[in-house]
Amino acid sequence: MKTVTLNNGVVMPQVGYGVYQVSPAECERCVSDALKVGYRMIDTAQAYHNEEGVGAAVKKSGIARDELFLVSKVWISNYGYDKAKASIDESLRRLGTDYIDLMLLHQPFCDRYGAYRALEDAYRAGKLRAIGVSNFYPDHFIDLASNVEIVPAVNQVETHVFDQQTSAQAYMKEFGTHMMAWAPLAEGRNNFFSNPVLESIGRKYGKSVAQVALRWLLQRDVIIIPKSVHVERMQQNLDIFDFELSQEDMDAIAALDTQRSLFFDHHDPEVVKMFMSWR
Ligand SMILES: NC(=O)c1ccc[n+]([C@@H]2O[C@H](COP(=O)([O-])OP(=O)(O)OC[C@H]3O[C@@H](n4cnc5c(N)ncnc54)[C@H](OP(=O)(O)O)[C@@H]3O)[C@@H](O)[C@H]2O)c1
Repeated sequence: MKTVTLNNGVVMPQVGYGVYQVSPAECERCVSDALKVGYRMIDTAQAYHNEEGVGAAVKKSGIARDELFLVSKVWISNYGYDKAKASIDESLRRLGTDYIDLMLLHQPFCDRYGAYRALEDAYRAGKLRAIGVSNFYPDHFIDLASNVEIVPAVNQVETHVFDQQTSAQAYMKEFGTHMMAWAPLAEGRNNFFSNPVLESIGRKYGKSVAQVALRWLLQRDVIIIPKSVHVERMQQNLDIFDFELSQEDMDAIAALDTQRSLFFDHHDPEVVKMFMSWR
Protein backbone atom coordinates (compact mmCIF):
# COMPACT_ATOMS: atom_id res chain seq x y z
CA MET A 1 0.00 0.00 0.00
CA LYS A 2 1.30 3.44 -0.92
CA THR A 3 1.56 5.74 2.09
CA VAL A 4 1.92 9.44 2.84
CA THR A 5 3.82 10.95 5.77
CA LEU A 6 1.80 13.58 7.62
CA ASN A 7 3.26 16.83 9.01
CA ASN A 8 3.79 15.20 12.43
CA GLY A 9 5.64 12.18 11.00
CA VAL A 10 2.67 9.78 11.20
CA VAL A 11 2.47 7.47 8.18
CA MET A 12 -0.96 6.99 6.62
CA PRO A 13 -2.19 4.77 3.73
CA GLN A 14 -2.96 6.92 0.69
CA VAL A 15 -6.02 4.81 -0.17
CA GLY A 16 -8.76 3.96 2.31
CA TYR A 17 -12.38 2.89 2.47
CA GLY A 18 -15.16 5.40 3.27
CA VAL A 19 -18.43 4.45 4.97
CA TYR A 20 -20.66 7.49 4.46
CA GLN A 21 -24.23 6.39 3.64
CA VAL A 22 -23.45 2.82 4.71
CA SER A 23 -26.21 1.92 7.15
CA PRO A 24 -25.22 0.97 10.68
CA ALA A 25 -26.60 -2.53 10.00
CA GLU A 26 -24.53 -3.02 6.86
CA CYS A 27 -21.37 -1.28 8.04
CA GLU A 28 -19.83 -4.24 9.84
CA ARG A 29 -20.22 -6.48 6.77
CA CYS A 30 -18.85 -3.81 4.42
CA VAL A 31 -15.81 -3.00 6.55
CA SER A 32 -15.12 -6.74 7.04
CA ASP A 33 -15.15 -7.15 3.25
CA ALA A 34 -12.97 -4.07 2.77
CA LEU A 35 -10.38 -5.38 5.25
CA LYS A 36 -10.39 -8.80 3.51
CA VAL A 37 -9.83 -7.12 0.16
CA GLY A 38 -6.82 -5.29 1.61
CA TYR A 39 -7.94 -1.84 2.79
CA ARG A 40 -6.17 -0.78 5.98
CA MET A 41 -7.55 2.74 6.39
CA ILE A 42 -11.25 3.28 7.22
CA ASP A 43 -12.96 6.69 7.14
CA THR A 44 -16.03 7.11 9.35
CA ALA A 45 -17.60 9.98 11.34
CA GLN A 46 -19.80 10.56 14.36
CA ALA A 47 -22.47 11.83 11.95
CA TYR A 48 -22.52 8.55 9.97
CA HIS A 49 -23.85 6.66 13.02
CA ASN A 50 -21.77 3.63 12.09
CA GLU A 51 -18.59 3.89 14.19
CA GLU A 52 -19.74 0.82 16.14
CA GLY A 53 -19.96 -1.22 12.93
CA VAL A 54 -16.41 -0.19 12.04
CA GLY A 55 -15.22 -1.16 15.52
CA ALA A 56 -16.97 -4.55 15.37
CA ALA A 57 -15.44 -5.37 11.97
CA VAL A 58 -11.97 -4.33 13.15
CA LYS A 59 -12.28 -6.51 16.25
CA LYS A 60 -13.48 -9.56 14.27
CA SER A 61 -10.77 -9.13 11.62
CA GLY A 62 -8.01 -10.11 14.02
CA ILE A 63 -5.73 -7.60 12.24
CA ALA A 64 -3.27 -5.98 14.64
CA ARG A 65 -4.45 -2.51 15.64
CA ASP A 66 -1.16 -0.92 14.57
CA GLU A 67 -1.65 -2.22 11.02
CA LEU A 68 -4.91 -0.26 10.74
CA PHE A 69 -5.55 3.45 10.34
CA LEU A 70 -8.90 4.67 11.68
CA VAL A 71 -10.27 8.10 10.74
CA SER A 72 -13.31 9.73 12.35
CA LYS A 73 -14.82 13.20 12.59
CA VAL A 74 -16.43 15.32 15.30
CA TRP A 75 -19.88 16.56 14.29
CA ILE A 76 -20.91 20.22 14.84
CA SER A 77 -23.49 19.31 17.51
CA ASN A 78 -20.44 18.26 19.57
CA TYR A 79 -18.45 21.47 19.01
CA GLY A 80 -17.15 23.65 21.82
CA TYR A 81 -14.32 22.38 24.02
CA ASP A 82 -16.19 20.31 26.61
CA LYS A 83 -18.63 18.62 24.26
CA ALA A 84 -15.93 17.83 21.70
CA LYS A 85 -13.70 16.37 24.42
CA ALA A 86 -16.51 14.10 25.66
CA SER A 87 -17.45 13.13 22.09
CA ILE A 88 -13.89 11.98 21.33
CA ASP A 89 -14.15 9.56 24.26
CA GLU A 90 -17.52 8.37 22.91
CA SER A 91 -15.99 7.77 19.45
CA LEU A 92 -13.17 5.79 21.07
CA ARG A 93 -15.74 3.67 22.91
CA ARG A 94 -17.86 3.07 19.79
CA LEU A 95 -14.79 2.16 17.74
CA GLY A 96 -13.55 -0.12 20.51
CA THR A 97 -10.05 1.35 20.49
CA ASP A 98 -7.65 3.24 22.75
CA TYR A 99 -6.68 5.70 20.05
CA ILE A 100 -7.94 7.08 16.75
CA ASP A 101 -5.29 7.55 14.06
CA LEU A 102 -6.78 10.74 12.61
CA MET A 103 -9.64 12.81 14.03
CA LEU A 104 -11.10 15.68 12.00
CA LEU A 105 -13.51 18.51 12.67
CA HIS A 106 -16.27 17.65 10.19
CA GLN A 107 -17.45 21.17 9.27
CA PRO A 108 -16.13 24.75 9.53
CA PHE A 109 -19.11 26.13 11.49
CA CYS A 110 -20.13 26.78 15.13
CA ASP A 111 -17.48 26.81 17.90
CA ARG A 112 -14.76 25.19 15.82
CA TYR A 113 -11.92 26.77 17.80
CA GLY A 114 -13.18 25.27 21.07
CA ALA A 115 -13.61 21.91 19.34
CA TYR A 116 -10.14 22.09 17.78
CA ARG A 117 -8.57 22.79 21.19
CA ALA A 118 -10.21 19.57 22.39
CA LEU A 119 -8.59 17.73 19.46
CA GLU A 120 -5.23 19.27 20.39
CA ASP A 121 -5.54 18.17 24.01
CA ALA A 122 -6.64 14.63 23.04
CA TYR A 123 -3.67 14.51 20.66
CA ARG A 124 -1.30 15.51 23.46
CA ALA A 125 -2.92 12.87 25.70
CA GLY A 126 -2.21 10.17 23.09
CA LYS A 127 -5.86 9.50 22.25
CA LEU A 128 -5.41 10.81 18.69
CA ARG A 129 -2.30 10.19 16.57
CA ALA A 130 -3.06 13.06 14.19
CA ILE A 131 -5.69 15.79 13.95
CA GLY A 132 -7.17 17.85 11.16
CA VAL A 133 -10.27 19.31 9.58
CA SER A 134 -12.80 18.64 6.84
CA ASN A 135 -14.68 20.99 4.53
CA PHE A 136 -12.41 23.88 5.46
CA TYR A 137 -12.09 25.65 2.10
CA PRO A 138 -9.21 28.16 1.74
CA ASP A 139 -10.68 31.06 3.74
CA HIS A 140 -11.73 28.95 6.74
CA PHE A 141 -8.63 26.77 6.40
CA ILE A 142 -6.07 29.61 6.42
CA ASP A 143 -7.85 31.27 9.34
CA LEU A 144 -7.83 28.12 11.48
CA ALA A 145 -4.38 26.85 10.48
CA SER A 146 -2.90 30.26 11.36
CA ASN A 147 -4.46 30.39 14.83
CA VAL A 148 -3.95 26.95 16.35
CA GLU A 149 -0.96 25.36 18.06
CA ILE A 150 -1.06 22.09 16.10
CA VAL A 151 -1.47 22.73 12.39
CA PRO A 152 -4.00 20.34 10.78
CA ALA A 153 -2.30 17.25 9.35
CA VAL A 154 -5.15 16.70 6.87
CA ASN A 155 -8.03 18.65 5.34
CA GLN A 156 -10.69 16.39 3.83
CA VAL A 157 -12.60 18.25 1.11
CA GLU A 158 -14.84 17.42 -1.84
CA THR A 159 -12.37 16.56 -4.61
CA HIS A 160 -13.00 14.80 -7.91
CA VAL A 161 -12.52 15.38 -11.63
CA PHE A 162 -15.30 18.00 -11.76
CA ASP A 163 -14.16 19.99 -8.69
CA GLN A 164 -10.41 19.53 -8.50
CA GLN A 165 -9.44 21.90 -5.64
CA THR A 166 -6.05 22.75 -7.14
CA SER A 167 -5.84 26.15 -5.49
CA ALA A 168 -7.13 24.77 -2.16
CA GLN A 169 -4.42 22.09 -2.32
CA ALA A 170 -1.74 24.75 -2.90
CA TYR A 171 -2.86 26.64 0.23
CA MET A 172 -2.82 23.41 2.24
CA LYS A 173 0.71 22.68 1.06
CA GLU A 174 1.82 26.06 2.44
CA PHE A 175 0.91 24.72 5.88
CA GLY A 176 2.20 21.17 5.28
CA THR A 177 -1.39 19.89 5.36
CA HIS A 178 -2.34 16.90 3.19
CA MET A 179 -5.45 17.06 1.05
CA MET A 180 -7.85 14.11 1.40
CA ALA A 181 -10.62 13.74 -1.17
CA TRP A 182 -14.20 13.01 -0.24
CA ALA A 183 -16.46 11.79 -3.07
CA PRO A 184 -13.41 10.88 -5.20
CA LEU A 185 -15.86 9.26 -7.64
CA ALA A 186 -18.16 12.30 -7.47
CA GLU A 187 -20.70 9.85 -5.97
CA GLY A 188 -21.46 9.08 -9.63
CA ARG A 189 -22.99 12.53 -10.21
CA ASN A 190 -22.75 14.42 -13.49
CA ASN A 191 -22.67 11.08 -15.44
CA PHE A 192 -19.27 10.45 -13.90
CA PHE A 193 -19.16 6.72 -14.70
CA SER A 194 -19.82 7.31 -18.42
CA ASN A 195 -17.61 10.35 -18.85
CA PRO A 196 -16.12 10.03 -22.38
CA VAL A 197 -12.69 11.47 -21.46
CA LEU A 198 -12.27 9.05 -18.55
CA GLU A 199 -13.64 6.16 -20.63
CA SER A 200 -11.22 6.75 -23.48
CA ILE A 201 -8.21 7.05 -21.13
CA GLY A 202 -9.37 3.86 -19.37
CA ARG A 203 -9.44 1.94 -22.67
CA LYS A 204 -5.73 2.71 -23.19
CA TYR A 205 -4.76 1.08 -19.89
CA GLY A 206 -7.50 -1.57 -19.61
CA LYS A 207 -8.89 0.26 -16.56
CA SER A 208 -12.36 1.47 -15.56
CA VAL A 209 -13.52 5.09 -15.24
CA ALA A 210 -13.33 4.74 -11.45
CA GLN A 211 -9.76 3.45 -11.60
CA VAL A 212 -8.63 6.26 -13.92
CA ALA A 213 -10.16 8.95 -11.70
CA LEU A 214 -8.68 7.44 -8.53
CA ARG A 215 -5.26 7.03 -10.14
CA TRP A 216 -5.38 10.68 -11.22
CA LEU A 217 -5.92 11.71 -7.57
CA LEU A 218 -3.06 9.48 -6.39
CA GLN A 219 -0.72 11.09 -8.91
CA ARG A 220 -1.81 14.49 -7.56
CA ASP A 221 -0.64 13.42 -4.09
CA VAL A 222 -4.21 13.27 -2.74
CA ILE A 223 -5.41 10.79 -0.09
CA ILE A 224 -8.57 8.95 -1.28
CA ILE A 225 -11.41 7.02 0.37
CA PRO A 226 -13.74 5.60 -2.32
CA LYS A 227 -16.89 3.96 -0.99
CA SER A 228 -18.70 0.91 -2.34
CA VAL A 229 -20.89 -1.70 -0.70
CA HIS A 230 -19.89 -4.20 -3.45
CA VAL A 231 -16.81 -6.37 -2.93
CA GLU A 232 -15.82 -6.42 -6.59
CA ARG A 233 -15.89 -2.60 -6.71
CA MET A 234 -13.90 -2.40 -3.46
CA GLN A 235 -11.28 -4.59 -5.18
CA GLN A 236 -11.38 -2.55 -8.36
CA ASN A 237 -10.92 0.72 -6.47
CA LEU A 238 -7.78 -0.65 -4.81
CA ASP A 239 -6.32 -2.06 -8.03
CA ILE A 240 -4.78 1.23 -9.15
CA PHE A 241 -1.09 0.74 -8.50
CA ASP A 242 -0.07 -1.11 -11.68
CA PHE A 243 -0.42 1.72 -14.20
CA GLU A 244 0.60 5.36 -14.52
CA LEU A 245 -1.29 8.11 -16.33
CA SER A 246 0.81 10.09 -18.80
CA GLN A 247 1.12 13.87 -18.54
CA GLU A 248 -1.20 14.11 -21.56
CA ASP A 249 -3.87 12.09 -19.68
CA MET A 250 -3.38 14.19 -16.54
CA ASP A 251 -3.88 17.35 -18.62
CA ALA A 252 -7.00 15.97 -20.33
CA ILE A 253 -8.53 15.22 -16.92
CA ALA A 254 -7.46 18.64 -15.58
CA ALA A 255 -9.61 20.16 -18.35
CA LEU A 256 -12.75 18.59 -16.81
CA ASP A 257 -12.57 20.95 -13.81
CA THR A 258 -15.63 23.17 -13.34
CA GLN A 259 -14.32 24.54 -10.00
CA ARG A 260 -17.82 24.10 -8.59
CA SER A 261 -19.22 21.80 -5.97
CA LEU A 262 -21.61 19.02 -7.05
CA PHE A 263 -23.00 18.97 -3.51
CA PHE A 264 -23.10 22.23 -1.56
CA ASP A 265 -21.21 25.48 -1.45
CA HIS A 266 -20.10 26.12 2.13
CA HIS A 267 -20.23 29.87 1.45
CA ASP A 268 -23.88 29.94 0.39
CA PRO A 269 -25.94 31.48 3.25
CA GLU A 270 -28.78 28.99 2.67
CA VAL A 271 -26.30 26.12 3.02
CA VAL A 272 -24.96 27.64 6.24
CA LYS A 273 -28.55 27.88 7.52
CA MET A 274 -29.03 24.20 6.63
CA PHE A 275 -26.01 23.29 8.73
CA MET A 276 -27.34 25.38 11.61
CA SER A 277 -30.48 23.22 11.55
CA TRP A 278 -28.24 20.14 12.00
CA ARG A 279 -26.47 21.40 15.15
N1 LIG B 1 -16.03 14.93 5.08
C1 LIG B 1 -17.20 14.97 4.47
O1 LIG B 1 -17.98 15.92 4.60
C2 LIG B 1 -17.55 13.84 3.56
C3 LIG B 1 -18.64 13.95 2.67
C4 LIG B 1 -18.91 12.88 1.83
C5 LIG B 1 -18.13 11.73 1.89
N2 LIG B 1 -17.09 11.64 2.79
C6 LIG B 1 -16.22 10.43 2.87
O2 LIG B 1 -15.75 10.12 1.56
C7 LIG B 1 -16.12 8.79 1.22
C8 LIG B 1 -16.32 8.64 -0.26
O3 LIG B 1 -17.29 9.54 -0.73
P1 LIG B 1 -18.76 9.13 -1.15
O4 LIG B 1 -19.12 7.87 -0.47
O5 LIG B 1 -19.64 10.29 -0.90
O6 LIG B 1 -18.72 8.94 -2.71
P2 LIG B 1 -17.76 8.20 -3.78
O7 LIG B 1 -16.79 7.30 -3.10
O8 LIG B 1 -17.27 9.25 -4.69
O9 LIG B 1 -18.81 7.35 -4.62
C9 LIG B 1 -19.54 6.30 -4.08
C10 LIG B 1 -20.56 5.85 -5.13
O10 LIG B 1 -19.89 5.28 -6.26
C11 LIG B 1 -20.31 3.93 -6.44
N3 LIG B 1 -19.09 3.18 -6.81
C12 LIG B 1 -18.00 2.98 -6.04
N4 LIG B 1 -17.04 2.34 -6.72
C13 LIG B 1 -17.53 2.11 -7.96
C14 LIG B 1 -17.01 1.49 -9.11
N5 LIG B 1 -15.77 1.00 -9.12
N6 LIG B 1 -17.80 1.43 -10.21
C15 LIG B 1 -19.04 1.93 -10.20
N7 LIG B 1 -19.61 2.53 -9.13
C16 LIG B 1 -18.85 2.63 -8.03
C17 LIG B 1 -20.90 3.49 -5.12
O11 LIG B 1 -21.93 2.55 -5.33
P3 LIG B 1 -22.07 1.19 -4.48
O12 LIG B 1 -21.79 1.50 -3.04
O13 LIG B 1 -23.48 0.76 -4.73
O14 LIG B 1 -21.06 0.24 -5.07
C18 LIG B 1 -21.50 4.80 -4.60
O15 LIG B 1 -22.76 5.05 -5.19
C19 LIG B 1 -17.37 8.57 2.07
O16 LIG B 1 -17.75 7.22 2.17
C20 LIG B 1 -16.97 9.21 3.37
O17 LIG B 1 -16.12 8.34 4.11
C21 LIG B 1 -16.80 12.68 3.61
